Amino acid sequence: MKILAFAASTSSQSINRRLVEYAAGLIEGADIEYVDLNDYEMPVYSSDREGAGGIPEFAQQFYEKIGAADGLLISFAEHNGNYTAAYKNLFDWVSRIDQKVFQSKPSVLLATSPGKGGAVTVLKMAEASAPHFGMEVKAAVSVPSFYDTFDSESGQMRNDEIRMQLKAAVSHLAA
Ligand SMILES: Cc1cc2nc3c(=O)[nH]c(=O)nc-3n(C[C@H](O)[C@H](O)[C@H](O)COP(=O)(O)O)c2cc1C
Repeated sequence: MKILAFAASTSSQSINRRLVEYAAGLIEGADIEYVDLNDYEMPVYSSDREGAGGIPEFAQQFYEKIGAADGLLISFAEHNGNYTAAYKNLFDWVSRIDQKVFQSKPSVLLATSPGKGGAVTVLKMAEASAPHFGMEVKAAVSVPSFYDTFDSESGQMRNDEIRMQLKAAVSHLAA
């Protein structure tokens, strides 16, 4: 199984990136490719820009990365109850290539935040809209209070229940 893994964040200190890396480490026998959304920065989508210059190469490259994967592991950062602007922009551009952005790939969705909500609002949004965009959601897990739940020094989950939830979730992506 070749898994494409990323945090829907552009923060160099992204806690969602840490979560993705931790969860990917729980997948047995998988070949993980991490992508960084900073490598796919594009002008803010507008129909005028698309009309004038077409779809940027980065959008095509991202679409092809999804196409080459057997599964997706994504962790969503929540900004004001929504996707980060960086993720939404990439998603909007890629959707102009193919509305089925996720190309029927089995996907595990995660989300975390420093607060008790655990970015569950954006996670539910991603889950609810998944069928419109060709995403087959196999599992979704929100991790609340990231800094309490995850020990950054050891790189381990302190909370056993969440560790088990994550392990069960990513087992859908195992070879
Ligand atoms: C503009 C902005 C809006 C935010 N809105 C939310 C929010 O709605 N819910 C939430 O749980 N955290 C919110 N946060 C805090 C983020 O969860 C926190 O910055 C987290 O580290 C983002 O994930 P990342 O580190 O993976 O980028 C917000 C942060 C910023 C900068």
